[in-house]
Amino acid sequence: MTRVPFVAGNWKMNTSKSAAIELARGVAAGAPASSVQVGVAPPFVYLDAVGQAIGGSSVLLGAQDCYFEKNGAFTGEISVEMLKDLGVKFCLTGHSERRHVLKESGELVGRKAAAVYGGGLTLIHCVGEKLEERDANQTLAVCQKQLDELSPSTMHDPDRLVIAYEPVWAIGTGRNATDAQAQEVHAFIRGAIARKWNKDFADRVRIQYGGSMKPENAAGLLARPDVDGGLIGGAALKADSFLAIVMAAR
Ligand code: PGA
Repeated sequence: MTRVPFVAGNWKMNTSKSAAIELARGVAAGAPASSVQVGVAPPFVYLDAVGQAIGGSSVLLGAQDCYFEKNGAFTGEISVEMLKDLGVKFCLTGHSERRHVLKESGELVGRKAAAVYGGGLTLIHCVGEKLEERDANQTLAVCQKQLDELSPSTMHDPDRLVIAYEPVWAIGTGRNATDAQAQEVHAFIRGAIARKWNKDFADRVRIQYGGSMKPENAAGLLARPDVDGGLIGGAALKADSFLAIVMAAR
């Protein structure tokens, strides 16, 4: 089964409007037209400008979050329809910073995931254990629980479902999972998807690794059979380091 790898940049709460446009232009200029899918997820307020900056390129526009309701009295929130209006093609759910810093519950994450997928966008659903959970041998159980936020009965297109495995202890710490640690959890995730959906579906779902992925460690991680790309934070804030990871995924 050949899956087209997907490398997405999660810019988090970084850049300014001008820096976002410059970064987006740099990524668009260097991204290959095929063999790897490339995406960027800027802050909400720069989506429009970044969408214009990558216009005409192969780079997909993504959002870091959304709210599950369509519209209404939800102060400060952004709906999937609003994202689509700006040309957004994919959206993250369950990022560890939303789970652990913003205190999103599994139930809320699941509702957001259903709204993203149901709205026709590609869903990047993030899962991953905290350090104390890894030390207590709970890694696979935590990932299973977070995968169970997704509902197989409403998600039928494996090409629009992406799982990002992001061990919390590796995010922004400079300490990435080893190639073997990543592969072990990715293989478990694919198996869990096969049990929830079926094997054919699981074989098509892309599973990204995230957590201190950078040009120096990307090739090793991406060489593992179940690592189908990356969700990149810090190294996505410079076009050359992000594109080096993209090239390693080809
Ligand atoms: P990092 O972040 O690459 O800076 O570790 C990854 C992520 O949080 O998606």
